Amino acid sequence: MPLITLDNISLSFSDKQILNKVNSTIYKGDKIALIGRNGEGKSTFMRILAGLIESDDGKLNIKNGSKISYLKQTLPQNNDKNLFDIVAEGLGEIGIILTQYQHLINDGKLEQANKIQEKIDQSNSWQYLYKIQTILNRFTLNANTIFSTLSSGWKRRVMLARALIQNPDILLLDEPTNHMDIITILNLERMLKNYNGTLVLISHDRSFIKGIVNRVFDLDRGSLVVFNCSYVNYVKRKNIQLHTEKIANARFDKKLAQEENWIR
Ligand SMILES: Nc1ncnc2c1ncn2[C@@H]1O[C@H](COP(=O)(O)OP(=O)(O)OP(=O)(O)O)[C@@H](O)[C@H]1O
Ligand SMILES: [Mg+2]
Repeated sequence: MPLITLDNISLSFSDKQILNKVNSTIYKGDKIALIGRNGEGKSTFMRILAGLIESDDGKLNIKNGSKISYLKQTLPQNNDKNLFDIVAEGLGEIGIILTQYQHLINDGKLEQANKIQEKIDQSNSWQYLYKIQTILNRFTLNANTIFSTLSSGWKRRVMLARALIQNPDILLLDEPTNHMDIITILNLERMLKNYNGTLVLISHDRSFIKGIVNRVFDLDRGSLVVFNCSYVNYVKRKNIQLHTEKIANARFDKKLAQEENWIR
């Protein structure tokens, strides 16, 4: 079942073409690695999928009602909220109501807390409080710790918990393992292997990618080539492709040199 369809998507930043008439489909259950050199446009492509920026041209179709979560490559700066609040906000409106409730309780403002409690009762949302606590525990995060006091690896862990809390249909992860220690990376790899949603992953960590993905989107000079295979087979096919390109270029250069000689 197609979840996202890209139809002739193009995007440029000033004179640099990032995407040139890109076509592809993302299906339910896909685990896709988005590969490309530094600065090739991987994060930009992911931001389009997340609906944060619009392409200059073309059409992006997302299946109605699909929940998309996105972990950005860069971490939030100067965020002095506690981890409960940050993870809860991943749930949207109900998450924000629960953070307000939690603060009022902590501050002993019980009357105001009661009012919010009614709202939570009516929308049958107590289950979400349990959900926040469960995911904090799963990532061994302390609800009261202040985000800005954490190391980069731990901050990324918090943002990952926030992305996962709403059980997204489509999970977009941009360099999730940056600054993480090896044990956390291995745990995350195991988790994503068993994850039964749809995943698009950008990572420079080849061994991490290798264990997870079943398709590869290769972004190269504005064009997207889709490889419906494992990462290992992608590398083999890509090497053959580059080799063939190299031979063709060498042949072309040789012919050009001969013609120049002839002209002279
Ligand atoms: N909002 C923007 N305005 C102008 N140029 C931009 C903008 N965002 C990105 N770029 C440029 O577009 C190109 C692609 O950037 P992007 O961050 O998408 O690449 P990337 O493949 O994710 O790179 P990296 O591997 O370093 O993460 C870069 O040259 C970048 O400087
Ligand atoms: Mg990037």
